[in-house]
Amino acid sequence: MMELKAVTVAAWLSVLLAVYRSEDVVVDLEGREGVLSYIEGGGHGYGYGVSSASSSAAPTPFMVGLTLIKGAADKGAVCLDGTPPGYHLHRGSGSGANSWLIQLEGGGWCNTVRNCVFRKTTRRGSSKYMEKELPFTGILSDKAEENPDFFNWNRVKLRYCDGASFTGSGQNEAAHLQFRGQQIWLAGMEELMSLGMKNAEQALLSGCSAGGLASILHCDEFRELLPATTKVKCLSDAGMFLDAVDVSGGRTLRNLYQGVVNLQNVKENLPASCTSHLDPTSCFFPQNLVANIKTPMFLLNAAYDAWQVQSSLAPPSADPHGIWNDCKANHELCNSSQIAFFQDFRNQMLEAVRAFSASGKNGLFINSCFAHCQTERQDTWFAADSPLIGNTGIAESVGDWYFDRRPVKAIDCAYPCDKTCHNLVFKR
Ligand SMILES: *[C@@H]1O[C@H](CO)[C@@H](O)[C@H](O)[C@H]1NC(C)=O
Repeated sequence: MMELKAVTVAAWLSVLLAVYRSEDVVVDLEGREGVLSYIEGGGHGYGYGVSSASSSAAPTPFMVGLTLIKGAADKGAVCLDGTPPGYHLHRGSGSGANSWLIQLEGGGWCNTVRNCVFRKTTRRGSSKYMEKELPFTGILSDKAEENPDFFNWNRVKLRYCDGASFTGSGQNEAAHLQFRGQQIWLAGMEELMSLGMKNAEQALLSGCSAGGLASILHCDEFRELLPATTKVKCLSDAGMFLDAVDVSGGRTLRNLYQGVVNLQNVKENLPASCTSHLDPTSCFFPQNLVANIKTPMFLLNAAYDAWQVQSSLAPPSADPHGIWNDCKANHELCNSSQIAFFQDFRNQMLEAVRAFSASGKNGLFINSCFAHCQTERQDTWFAADSPLIGNTGIAESVGDWYFDRRPVKAIDCAYPCDKTCHNLVFKR
């Protein structure tokens, strides 16, 4: 009985942790009221929480301290409020001493003066409010049993404090706002080059959510920064934000992106191969970019991305009477027409990666889950009951692709066939 009780407490602790992290995403992006209340284990009740708390996740996660980039301000690389940007670095060792993994932090975007000004009072817009240390789990873990291929690499988390996926430029003097995402990206890379990345044998640029979009936007620039002899690839986790029609027939996310791109002068930092024939807002959507990225790239995404369901497809502005509230909070409460809407979204996702997938250098893992960000969470990245496509999990798939052990083009069968998902469920 004592053991059972301890496990239950541990499970609830891991649940609360998940609540806190995922709530950030929702609150940052839309200021919505709905918050993640718990995470269900795909068909196992709390099974996954128990197993991740008792076996895979360390009782006290491995923490890595924040370093602010000295001198970044002189180069115009500052957060929205003018404070210096920062990163967390854990040095590699042994066979990984000369390999570098860069994880670009996510956290939505700001698309108006008002919500960019608000960001200045949070860690997403000011290093004054950044955590002084962060847990390194999943793809950032330092343990082989949690992160088999990258555990002994130099691993970096570059903090996100510009609100435009590291691509903004300019400023708004009246509102005291600095839009310096592109400069933050460059200052971060310059700092890491000086710390040894310039001699990297292997490098992987990664990122989740707004950071996953940033890894798409900056992938070829990353390749260019490094010597031709370095093996360079990029990974986008939950960065495939689609230019999709929402439940009221509008385009919520396109409207948001249009605000970001215009307010933060993003156009000049978008690939010319896109802006030469499409409007800048379209060129902030990965569906118009991924097929033209020259560097090998891996797209990891849930086909029913939980953030996009919540904030792009059925946000309160597109569903004023809240008739999607139950369904978007918990996929088990959707009726057949709502599921059909999501299946259409999945079809758009598959269409968006079709040309990308045709290239042998690229990799894919599109699982049919209601999830968002699966690399940094230990339970989704690499644990006993992590999500699978076929018999293979995410860490193994990314590793197989990165090290050219086999091609990885994994596309799941449609909902509800996958029983290995760690779906996000939100409080109603
Ligand atoms: C599903 O639910 C939505 C929202 O409540 C409703 O408009 C629609 O008619 C329902 N469809 C079916 C097939 O019950």
